Order: sequence, then C-alpha cells, then structure tokens
Amino acid sequence: MAFLTGRIKPVNKFITFEGIEGSGKSTQIELAVAYLREKAIPCVVTREPTGTDIGMKIADILFKREHGHLCAEAELLLFCAARAQHVRTVIQPALREGKVVLCDRFSDATYAYQGAGRGLDREIIRIINDYSAVHTRPDLTLLFDLPVEAGLKRATARNNRLDDPAASDRFERETLEFHRRIREGYLEILKNSPERFRLIDADRNIDAIQEDVRRHISALIKQ
Ligand SMILES: Nc1ncnc2c1ncn2[C@@H]1O[C@H](COP(=O)(O)OP(=O)(O)OP(=O)(O)O)[C@@H](O)[C@H]1O
Ligand SMILES: [Mg+2]
Repeated sequence: MAFLTGRIKPVNKFITFEGIEGSGKSTQIELAVAYLREKAIPCVVTREPTGTDIGMKIADILFKREHGHLCAEAELLLFCAARAQHVRTVIQPALREGKVVLCDRFSDATYAYQGAGRGLDREIIRIINDYSAVHTRPDLTLLFDLPVEAGLKRATARNNRLDDPAASDRFERETLEFHRRIREGYLEILKNSPERFRLIDADRNIDAIQEDVRRHISALIKQ
C-alpha cells in the first residue's frame, strides 16, 4: 500500500543472477535483497527451478541421485516446466505489483547448461524457453564468472556441509569439460546481449563482488 500513497515508487525490474556452480549467485542475491530492503524498495527474491511448490517437486525429479539416468531432453523440458509455472505465478505477478524481482538463475541457464553443456539444439531451446517464459526477459543479468575449478571447489565444500550432500549435485558430478562448456556458453550469450548483461569477476571476496552488484542494481533502478 505504501507506494500508493506516493512514499515508495514502484520499480518493476527483473534482475537475474547467472553463473557456473559455486560462482556465488545465492550468496550475492541474499546480500542484494538486504540492500533493497534497507532502501525500502519492494522486492521479491526467487530461484529456479525451486521458486514454486510445483518447481520443488520438479527439482526432486531433476536432482535426486537415483534419477542420474534422466535424459538431456527430459532435463530441458523439466527445467522449462518449472519456469512456466514460476513466471506465471511468481515473477509476472510481482512485476505487475511494481516490485523488483531478483531471480537466482533463469532462461540463460538453459542455454548454458542444456545448450552449451548438453549440446541440445539452440533453436529448440529458444522456442521452448520463450514459450515457458512468456517472452519475459530480464532487465539486467549479472553474470558471475570465475574458473570452473574454483567454483566447483566452493560448491563441493558447501555440499559437504549439508545434511544430504547429494541433494542437488547433479551438475557438480559432471566433468570439468562440461563445466568449461557452460562457462564459455554463458560468455557467448553475454557477447550476444551486451546491453542486458554485466560481467562480474567472481574470483574475489564476497564484499568486493557485492559492491559491484549494488552498483549495477542501483544504476538500473534509478533509470
Ligand atoms: N566470493 C566468495 N569467496 C569465497 N567463498 C564464497 C564466495 N562466494 C560464495 N562463497 C561460498 O561458496 C559456496 C558457494 O556459493 P553459492 O552457494 O552462493 O554459489 P552458487 O553460485 O549459488 O552455487 P550453485 O550454482 O551450486 O547454486 C558457499 O559455501 C559460499 O559461502
Ligand atoms: Mg545457488
């Protein structure tokens, strides 16, 4: 209600956080939310594929170790099914309410993982992605980039601290070569959409990275 009284201006911007495993997306998104809340900017933080109840069930199929034989095409369709539900029931409603939406991974991850990583046809991915996302495009995408060895080391150390370290390691179990293709895939998407992307050197300390994140977000919301 506050923005109806003119105290808070609605800022419906869609910001996505992308990058390889362990690049610090989840760490940085939490700090970015704290920053927006400090500034009393209405925002929603969400993630793929687990941003909805349906998405949580889909993630169960995607990530359980006993589903290691899930084929690449089914993987693509499941991520996109989760996105279809997520866009329609979480992202679009929040944007319509004038909120900033911060999303941990989105359509670019599908190009990077299922396209560059798994080698699936980019044109098919484009059609399925657009259909799932109702052509919803981020206003800003922060790409956290670092060598894959460094990212995987962080992700593995984090997983080892969890109750169930195998809970979401479907991609961590892949080869270094697979992860290098994903990193390159992300950099290629960035090259094709330079106006939307900001490349962030993620091989630094958390505070230095967050400083860049805040600078890019404030530049966008001041527009
Ligand atoms: N800049 C950093 N320097 C050192 N460690 C970090 C840094 N950023 C995050 N970490 C730590 O690395 C681990 C992975 O970070 P985080 O979970 O944020 O990565 P992610 O990109 O979300 O990974 P995933 O793709 O697996 O979801 C965490 O334990 C986190 O605390
Ligand atoms: Mg994460």
